[in-house]
Amino acid sequence: MGLTEQDILRKLSTIPIPGGNRDLVAAGAVRQLEVDGERVRLLLAVEAARPGIADSLRGEVERQLRALPGVADVEVTLQTLLATVQGPSPAHAPPQPRGWAHLIPGVERVVAVASGKGGVGKSTVAANLALALARRGRRVGLLDADIYGPSQQLMMGAEEGPTGDASGKIHPVDAPGGVKVMSFGYIVDADQPVIWRGPMLQKALEQFVGDVLWGELDYLVVDLPPGTGDVALTLCQNVPLAGALIVTTAQDVALIDARKSLHMFRKLDVPVLGIVENMSHYTCPECGHVEHVFGSGGGRRTADALGVPFLGEIPIDPAVAAGGDTGQPVVLERPQSPVGRAFTALADSILERAERG
Ligand SMILES: Nc1ncnc2c1ncn2[C@@H]1O[C@H](COP(=O)(O)OP(=O)(O)O)[C@@H](O)[C@H]1O
Ligand SMILES: [Mg+2]
Repeated sequence: MGLTEQDILRKLSTIPIPGGNRDLVAAGAVRQLEVDGERVRLLLAVEAARPGIADSLRGEVERQLRALPGVADVEVTLQTLLATVQGPSPAHAPPQPRGWAHLIPGVERVVAVASGKGGVGKSTVAANLALALARRGRRVGLLDADIYGPSQQLMMGAEEGPTGDASGKIHPVDAPGGVKVMSFGYIVDADQPVIWRGPMLQKALEQFVGDVLWGELDYLVVDLPPGTGDVALTLCQNVPLAGALIVTTAQDVALIDARKSLHMFRKLDVPVLGIVENMSHYTCPECGHVEHVFGSGGGRRTADALGVPFLGEIPIDPAVAAGGDTGQPVVLERPQSPVGRAFTALADSILERAERG
């Protein structure tokens, strides 16, 4: 198997930050990571009292990554943030608030919806989860941060697009069902590949979080791109997440990828709310026969093996796919259907986990 971002993160988590007692990953120094075949590109941001310290760190990181099997080329960009505190940092500093928290002061909880693999229904789950939370009386926003394939503007029936105001702030779209929606789909051209990288991507994301007038929200649900790339890393490092929900199907390949997502969240200290298995089974409307299309019980087994909650199975229902295409999410149109109830049960588990204690 080829080199993965996970391999790199694992290595980086063994390298201490200069003058600190945490590793690069735990300290949130990894801002961008790109693995392209045997090429690794990395953006690190570290605090250092003197620029020279950071330079020797770059050499060390490049040396250690080059020593990994399968790595041919390493490019490390290092941003040095000159330390503002004088003297050594306290040995047991409290966890720092994440960088963009002040941008969303009215947002109580941010829940990220992630998947290792594309096409498993991450966006479908994010949309219906947001609507089910709203049906439970919560104030909900939905941010589609999947820059490579934004779909919430379509799924949520919110194609009109947001409006700006004189101060440059953006009003999210009020979608049917009472959810406020913002999507990269409003600003990227569907026919053009997205080529934002590194600092540009970081800036774009920061604006997406901070320039949107979310107002008071109980939940901001974030639809992440699949995988463990730049967007997921940047958001996890900068937005205080109440937790991540991992969507998978029962297929082995999707489960392997789900495991990778889980490890990424653990590394970044983001609580994992649980795993949900989407498209788990199909019930024949004629004869009632239940077919486990992608195999049976995979999501639960993975969750058990990894020690995270299993949050249930969402059945396959053609109405979900049709409603997704026409902006009529099933939780809104047919909340009492089996699949509508499954999404509601998922929302209830999230509420239970996010709001207890
Ligand atoms: N439970 C389901 N039943 C039927 N179709 C589904 C279900 N979940 C997702 N789909 C369909 O599968 C496709 C991929 O789902 P999507 O949410 O776009 O995946 P992702 O965001 O993970 O790429 C879409 O056409 C969607 O309508
Ligand atoms: Mg999607």
